[in-house]
Amino acid sequence: MTKRILLIVGGGIAAYKCLELVRRARDKGIAVRCVMTAAAQQFVTPLSFGSLTNDTVYTDLFSLNDEAEIGHIRLSREADLAVIAPATADLLAKLANGVADSLAGAVLLATDKPVLAAPAMNPRMWSHPATKRNVAQLAADGVRFVGPNSGEMAESGEAGEGRMAEPAEILAAIEDMISGPKPLAGKRVLITSGPTHEPIDPVRYIANRSSGKQGHAIAAAAAAAGAEVTLVSGPVTIPDPAGVTVVPVETARQMLAAVEETLPADIAICAAAVADWRPDTEGAQKMKKDGTSAAPGLTLVENPDILRTLAQHHTLRPAIVVGFAAETETVIDHAKAKLARKGCDLIVANDVSHSTGVMGGDRNSVHLVTPDGVESWEDMDKTEVARRLVAHVAANLEGHHKKKAAKPRRKGPKKTTTKSSR
Ligand code: C5P
Repeated sequence: MTKRILLIVGGGIAAYKCLELVRRARDKGIAVRCVMTAAAQQFVTPLSFGSLTNDTVYTDLFSLNDEAEIGHIRLSREADLAVIAPATADLLAKLANGVADSLAGAVLLATDKPVLAAPAMNPRMWSHPATKRNVAQLAADGVRFVGPNSGEMAESGEAGEGRMAEPAEILAAIEDMISGPKPLAGKRVLITSGPTHEPIDPVRYIANRSSGKQGHAIAAAAAAAGAEVTLVSGPVTIPDPAGVTVVPVETARQMLAAVEETLPADIAICAAAVADWRPDTEGAQKMKKDGTSAAPGLTLVENPDILRTLAQHHTLRPAIVVGFAAETETVIDHAKAKLARKGCDLIVANDVSHSTGVMGGDRNSVHLVTPDGVESWEDMDKTEVARRLVAHVAANLEGHHKKKAAKPRRKGPKKTTTKSSR
């Protein structure tokens, strides 16, 4: 069923960012209905929000038309979530004190749905004891907050805490609040992502073309599924996913150390393109060419296999261990061999030949290879691969726990039951 949010737009310069928020929410299939305060209309017009939401924009508590058509009580209850953005100091004060002298105030007082606030104000206003009191009261009342962030203010170049969270962050909080039950709540998920860099000397290294997009998307999807996620990432240029603990590393050996440090975990997904080999020594200084002698040879030694270490861990093997197989030929056969060699539960195989555009691209077409067979998915966005993979692994984890619970206990010495005298 389509999810709907009621967006209450407050009067601040950040109101313009809410146009982007509406667009992104609708892209995700979330319906948006807007209430604008009088002050908000000084910054952005109701026509802009009306065009983007494709719905009436409500502005007036005493509008005969609006009241006859929908009424502020229904307005407040027909949504799955009320979002206040920008949540100005004034709106927060009103809500904290139950003031209902405007449509926004009345709607928020009448709602029976969760409320998310994205504060935006001058840093001094945000740190004022009155605002702090109001925010503490609202948090105690169950209102959730996203932001504010630190940075430059739109007015007078002032900087500090008070910038409204970015539309993507607000949308992530919205999705988190309107999504159903979380299949990985309470579970620890460890993910490796990105390439590794194996130094030759202080300025040169061996690397590969991995962008980290697939691994990072899996981390974001696992976090959205309620897991506590640690993402051990090689050097990448993409942003850290929200709600995830990121451990940045450079080399395979550092990645292994960070992974071992993170155990125990319920699930491990190794999406990193770990360099198989590293130079056996790292030059302390930049190697120089002198124009006469031959080019230096590189002697390579094998890197530790992180996936294999996890899958064959004697004491702390995660219940589910997933590996990736980036291949350029006979993808499935290689993946099957890898599954056996590494000892993991699932290999996600993909063709990374140059012509597929998978390495560094946004799309992926994968095959899930398990001891039970092969499941091929159609070509889709990496974020969608991530979402489906996380759902698949979560279902397997549940199956794993059920199987474990059903296993008969190891036979010990026969117990004789004696009747209690109590
Ligand atoms: O052995 P190969 O590199 O083909 O295997 C790919 C899988 O193994 C990926 O899941 C990758 O993250 C993992 N791997 C690893 N440590 C290595 C090499 C690969 O974790 N040294």
